[in-house]
Amino acid sequence: MSRFLSEKFQQIIPYVPGEQPSDTRYIKLNTNENPYPPSPQCRKIMQEIPSNIQLYPDPELKGLREAIARYFNVKPQCVFVGNGSDEVLAFAFQAFHDDEEEICFPDITYGFYKVFADLYRVSSEKIPLRSDFSINPADYRDCGKNIILANPNAPTGLCMSLSEIESILKSNRDSLIIIDEAYIDFGGESCIPLLKDYDNLLVVQTFSKSRSLAGARIGLAVSSEDIIEDLNKIKFSFNPYNLNRLSSMLAKASIEDDVYFKKCTREIINTREKTSEKLRLLGFEVLQSKANFIFTKHPKMKGQEYFNALKENGILVRHWNDASIQDFVRITIGTDEEMKALCHITKQIINNFSK
Ligand SMILES: Cc1ncc(COP(=O)(O)O)c(C=O)c1O
Repeated sequence: MSRFLSEKFQQIIPYVPGEQPSDTRYIKLNTNENPYPPSPQCRKIMQEIPSNIQLYPDPELKGLREAIARYFNVKPQCVFVGNGSDEVLAFAFQAFHDDEEEICFPDITYGFYKVFADLYRVSSEKIPLRSDFSINPADYRDCGKNIILANPNAPTGLCMSLSEIESILKSNRDSLIIIDEAYIDFGGESCIPLLKDYDNLLVVQTFSKSRSLAGARIGLAVSSEDIIEDLNKIKFSFNPYNLNRLSSMLAKASIEDDVYFKKCTREIINTREKTSEKLRLLGFEVLQSKANFIFTKHPKMKGQEYFNALKENGILVRHWNDASIQDFVRITIGTDEEMKALCHITKQIINNFSK
């Protein structure tokens, strides 16, 4: 730390992203990326890098926002696009909280919520999950604070129903409810249709997972015109050109290719179900995931031991040391082949452990 860092940032513990190894030695199942390439329409765009790259992109991202609006059947004024959904979430933490105002979220969830809260000096309350790791909607009813929930939650993969989310929206009419749907396309039900009845809802999604564009950094929000206007106020006070020209073309091509999108997400869901079943047969507890990852533990191995053994065998997954989840690892769903390799090596690891 230099002596110039502002005192207000000195205690912040930044988010630690999953490892991005520079060699290709690993089967990489650690950061919930999509194992399949993006839509062929995106690949076409990448082959013809835009010739007008010397010009700034459209700060309004008009064409892209219109395409997203058509996809979700909302007005373009109800759509915001950010540099990854992390940026959208960061803008929301900035925009909707005064000093000392509180936001609450589950004690086990996406680690960035706490980091954003600390960065933007929003006080945060962590609400415990149930013992089966599910979110209890009753804990959020009449809560009187802004709320952020990942649905499906990370890293558990458990998903709340639309009616559970509606019960939270209904009892907190004067608080903003942010639903982070980063993984919603893998079997959950989006709460975007609830926007017509609730003006306190902000839905955030990403192109990083189901649309295979993590490297292009594209996230979106859908909400009321007023809330989107507020997000734009922050964006235009920070970086009006937050999405580069190439990424905005890729995002538009992706959202307009529904056939490819559905095919890939279906494939990942099938692979997830097959892998979960195989791991259960090997004695693992696997939470019922609606995401492109599974959260799992084995009664005979510590999470760290399984993580290390997989890494020694060329497979990267994710493990956290927090007491309540340290027995678990999170495994991203790769291709069928990759998951077969995971199960094969896992079987060997368990056999070695039992000796
Ligand atoms: C729950 C959740 N929300 C948001 C993000 C951020 O995604 P991105 O910034 O790539 O859109 C992630 C990334 O892993 C996530 O797990």
